Amino acid sequence: MTADFFDLLKTRRAVRNYQDKDVSLDLLMEIIQDACLAPSGGNRQTWRFIVINDRDTIGRLSEESRTNLVAELDNNPASTAKRYEAALRNPKFNVFYNAPSLVIICGDKGSQSLEVDCALAASYLMFSAAARGLGTCWVDLGARIYDPKLLEEIGLTDDLAIVAPIIIGYPKAIPAIPPRNEPVILKTIS
Ligand SMILES: Cc1cc2nc3c(=O)[nH]c(=O)nc-3n(C[C@H](O)[C@H](O)[C@H](O)COP(=O)(O)O)c2cc1C
Repeated sequence: MTADFFDLLKTRRAVRNYQDKDVSLDLLMEIIQDACLAPSGGNRQTWRFIVINDRDTIGRLSEESRTNLVAELDNNPASTAKRYEAALRNPKFNVFYNAPSLVIICGDKGSQSLEVDCALAASYLMFSAAARGLGTCWVDLGARIYDPKLLEEIGLTDDLAIVAPIIIGYPKAIPAIPPRNEPVILKTIS
């Protein structure tokens, strides 16, 4: 289970292809514990977690987001979802790539540093999952959940904002690292 940290930097990849194998709730809870080791502004730990370990619910959330994104595209052809349009218009497209588990990192809309805190927790969560042989992917396309019934079902009350929907599962394969740019160092003073 212990993976070398520098290897992890390479093996933590966005995984979009999962084995048909469930992740135990205990394991998800361990990973979430690790996510809470992330730094946060003023140590406020503004992150909250919604854990969905049920494929049917994940499928319905996917469909809700997909439908809302299609409506967004119909209303605004310049929508940021444009580059995913072909996939989104396919009714069979699961924005969560049929992953068995989904952790939605969210928090109180009024919290100072909410987005930064949750993004750091997401990062820790993804590394912890990778160290345990799991794959993850932050799926922003899955954040368009507006249906009041669904929101109530997952416990996302009005005061909460979704920052990071993260899918988790056992990967079929670890993808290669998508190309990275050289660091843009604006100035070095030494
Ligand atoms: C804020 C954010 C939103 C993302 N949203 C999506 C998404 O909606 N769908 C998706 O397939 N990947 C999504 N990704 C994954 C990125 O595409 C992926 O991290 C990037 O291509 C680099 O690949 P790597 O994670 O393997 O290094 C998102 C990543 C981040 C950080």
